[in-house]
Amino acid sequence: MTTVLAALPYRIDVHPAAASGAELAEDARAGLCAPFKELPPKYFYDERGSELFERITELPEYYQARSELSVLRGIAPMLAAGHEPAELVELGSGASRKAEPLLAAMMDGGADVRYTPFDVCPEVLLSSASRLVLRLPGLRVHAVAGDFARHLHELPPPPERGARIVAFLGGTIGNLAPEDRAPFLREVADLLRPGDALLLGTDLAGDPARIVPAYDDAQGVTAEFNRNVLRVLNRELDADFDVGAFSHVARYDPGPPWIEMRLRSLRRQTVTLRGIDLTVEFAEGEEMRTEISCKFTREAVEEMYAQAGLELVEWHTDPRGWFAVSVAQLAGPGR
Ligand code: SAH
Ligand code: TRP
Repeated sequence: MTTVLAALPYRIDVHPAAASGAELAEDARAGLCAPFKELPPKYFYDERGSELFERITELPEYYQARSELSVLRGIAPMLAAGHEPAELVELGSGASRKAEPLLAAMMDGGADVRYTPFDVCPEVLLSSASRLVLRLPGLRVHAVAGDFARHLHELPPPPERGARIVAFLGGTIGNLAPEDRAPFLREVADLLRPGDALLLGTDLAGDPARIVPAYDDAQGVTAEFNRNVLRVLNRELDADFDVGAFSHVARYDPGPPWIEMRLRSLRRQTVTLRGIDLTVEFAEGEEMRTEISCKFTREAVEEMYAQAGLELVEWHTDPRGWFAVSVAQLAGPGR
């Protein structure tokens, strides 16, 4: 028998709000009582939801994950050499699959590196932190469970020496409401010092025939993922959603352009949420929005950066031009 690790080189901080149901109760009430019902996407991601999302990233239709990973593999050595980074912060890190090549490049040559994944799902942080410290010996991991829209101040201070890279991958910026994106990026910019960099993954606008199936796969994994939010409400708020009585809808809207994920009530039904003492009616065919996923152009990304005091310094896409990873730094003299 060999002891692999006597003390694991990772730590996980859980923000109290991430563990309490108070916010879910409030969001569910507001969203279900609105004239056009809507639920915030962060509630997809309990342990099962995170597992389902990981299966989505392996689907043939979900090109985004493979495109982004190939871009990241390509630019990792150059990023590591150019910025001498000592820390990788990743917002909405999930299974941390895309952090691996970045961290490996950063650690190449024996550099002391910290990985700081930040996610709303504590279970996914635990499994990815333990996997990463075994795969990359010497890596230190300081994970934080919280809401990236509200608890970024919970992140540990940046390293004293060396640069910090903040990654926000998976096209998750496109899941924020348009009016929330620049203010969010302004908060992200506050995590950066001159010389630090933001690494942002954005899914690119293009042919709906390619984009729509990525959100409506043949095996029905995305449908199961979408409906998972109803299971979360059943468990956390003592609700009685009949999960099978809602179907998955992925609708392409060329205006923004974005994909809208919805759940359609297959019949007229009444749902009771005993935990918050609420009864909700659904008409037959009524649709409830569970997520938007915005598709970008380079100009749209540059515009978003400008509004947040950031400046695009690099733009990389996969060979087909379907997904982009851009690098941004503080704009102007701050750089
Ligand atoms: N970055 C990974 C996962 C993307 S899925 C990838 O590219 O494959 C979105 C991730 O963001 C999930 O892990 C989810 O748990 C997390 N997430 C969603 N909303 C969040 C929020 N408000 N605060 C923190 N994490 C959030
Ligand atoms: N960030 C992912 C995206 O917009 C999230 C996602 C992928 C998603 N597939 C989904 C969210 C299906 C809800 C339903 O690409």
